[in-house]
Amino acid sequence: MIKIRCLVENAARRASALWGEHGMAFHIQTPDGAILFDTGQSGEVLLHNARELGIDLAQIDALAISHAHYDHTGGLMRVLEHTRPMIPLYASPDLFRARYSVHDGALTSIGVPFTREKLAPKVEFRLNAEPVEILPGVWTTGEIPDRSDFEGRSATHQIRDGDGWQPDPYRDDFSLVIQAAEGLVVLFGCGHAGLLNILKHVKRTFRREIITVVGGMHLISATEDDLRRAIVTLKTNFGTPDVYPCHCTGETAYVALARAFSDKTHPCPAGTLLTYET
Ligand SMILES: [Fe+2]
Ligand SMILES: [Fe+2]
Repeated sequence: MIKIRCLVENAARRASALWGEHGMAFHIQTPDGAILFDTGQSGEVLLHNARELGIDLAQIDALAISHAHYDHTGGLMRVLEHTRPMIPLYASPDLFRARYSVHDGALTSIGVPFTREKLAPKVEFRLNAEPVEILPGVWTTGEIPDRSDFEGRSATHQIRDGDGWQPDPYRDDFSLVIQAAEGLVVLFGCGHAGLLNILKHVKRTFRREIITVVGGMHLISATEDDLRRAIVTLKTNFGTPDVYPCHCTGETAYVALARAFSDKTHPCPAGTLLTYET
């Protein structure tokens, strides 16, 4: 049995004692071990929810980080107080690039809020732009090379380019692919590389049917045309997988997906549990 538990999300499951915060984290348990995918923003929410859900962080075999943004990496140091020494950390080689949000000329740092040097005594870095198998049947997508479709970007996200600035190309954006008996389950952090680009890459790389897509899909900046095309492509090229859009997906996109695929679109607050066969 494979168990995917949403540990941190903007919302928490109704009538639970779980907490929410703007952020994302999943716990993945397979017969071969456990992975923590992202850490939320504060660490406090992840630790509280893990306690509530009976998840022992000392039993985690590997960490995987979807991308640099603080709402996915901010909990890292708190989490590392509870995980085993020198736990492997899978992420993009571009993880530690400085990233900013620029509003009216004012800069806010939104990348990993810790230096690589500060993390180095606690983790074994496994930074690789290629797909990597973390545990049997659980892979990173690696970098998404083909960005021919619209990306899950925000116009305010910038990186330094010499003395100037350029839009963040989100080279660090990874998703996870879980090979269940029923098909592929794809877990997004924020999906900045683009919903369709990521799914195309997964289909091409792993050559199986995608049955579920879960996580932040960052469709806030998608136009009506983008959303329409995404819905048609999901239907025609991907056989309408179950989707659990959450975190940064955006209300308009969630409603559009729910209207198009009412019985296939599901909420995913903290506490949500998805199970699959191995
Ligand atoms: Fe995010
Ligand atoms: Fe993000």
